[in-house]
Amino acid sequence: MPEARLPWWAPQFGAEERALVSGVLESGFLNDGDVTTRFEARLAELVGVRHAVGVTSGTAALFLALASLEVGQGDEVIVPDVSFIATANAVRLAGATPVLADIDPATLTLDPEAFRRAIGPRTKAVIPVHVSGRSGHLPEILRIAEARGLHVVEDAAEAFLSKRGGRCLGTFGRLGCLSFSPAKLITTGQGGAVLTNDDALEVRLRELKDQGRPVRGTGGDDLHHRVGYNFKLTNLQAAVGLGQLASLPERLARMRRTYQAYAEGLRDVEGVRLVGFRLEEGESPQWVDALSEERDRLIEFLASRGAECRRFWFPLHRQAPYRQPDEYFPHSTAVAPKAFWLPSGLRMTDADVASVCRAARECFERAPVR
Ligand SMILES: Cc1ncc(COP(=O)(O)O)c(C=O)c1O
Repeated sequence: MPEARLPWWAPQFGAEERALVSGVLESGFLNDGDVTTRFEARLAELVGVRHAVGVTSGTAALFLALASLEVGQGDEVIVPDVSFIATANAVRLAGATPVLADIDPATLTLDPEAFRRAIGPRTKAVIPVHVSGRSGHLPEILRIAEARGLHVVEDAAEAFLSKRGGRCLGTFGRLGCLSFSPAKLITTGQGGAVLTNDDALEVRLRELKDQGRPVRGTGGDDLHHRVGYNFKLTNLQAAVGLGQLASLPERLARMRRTYQAYAEGLRDVEGVRLVGFRLEEGESPQWVDALSEERDRLIEFLASRGAECRRFWFPLHRQAPYRQPDEYFPHSTAVAPKAFWLPSGLRMTDADVASVCRAARECFERAPVR
């Protein structure tokens, strides 16, 4: 495949990352260390939370969040049917059972009624997923969870610095999880963080991520208070992350602008519509998602014009490990085959967005929507 002129996403790096990574290499200490601590402190400050614990991935963050709450064997955790499969897999890694619940097709996020219906005697937690940075029905989900005594672990993998009512997603639940995989607002190659305001949970998370040690050890005669694992985020990765943060305002502004430009450019294009964002509440698009009855034809047409899109995930109930009948999930079953992400890379210009919108218009003019 020739490289798309407009990839749906491409990570961006600059001089800051290079300088910080060189500094770590020169220091000789590549492991989880002082640069990791600086990155964690900066993350916590940016999202407005007491603690950010750097870990190896968003999946690890979700696993560790559940493990820190002692959610495991015999417990059920409610997960929306539309998410990257990592959300359900992390529940399995913790030894618990993911229970899928349908979504609201207007926001592509967990439907509060479906959540309510999925609660049973073994339910311990719910993981609302902020798809593409969208907060969806978070206030109602928090209310239901509180009334039923359930933990809320936010999957904010796609929602770093996206807000609801001016407050960052990932800070509403007891724990929130970020991912820094390559297609996110900032990346560390692979990486993630768990956010919490709870001091005791922070200690527990640090033990869990580092072989049961509450503080960094020597690898020798350390005291290991509990069972833990190795999910450390290294200085090398944190250096990349810190470098990425240097261009944060530009990154956030670009994503917002790209979404607005698509909204303007596609307003009167019949056949495709955007999934909205609550920009006025502070939501920040991670990518720009859209729906079309003729998704695959549109995607192919755009590809022929050098614009690459990404199809949405299959609903989780369609994936082998979590297979269930379609009729339990009418909304996700209907909406997922229409959903896709438009080219949303950080180097997109308004002219690039306009060219994608023109191509979309042309696609539907050639074969009018039935
Ligand atoms: C919604 C969602 N949850 C969880 C993850 C898992 O994060 P990671 O790939 O860093 O393990 C991702 C992204 O990759 C995601 O998009």
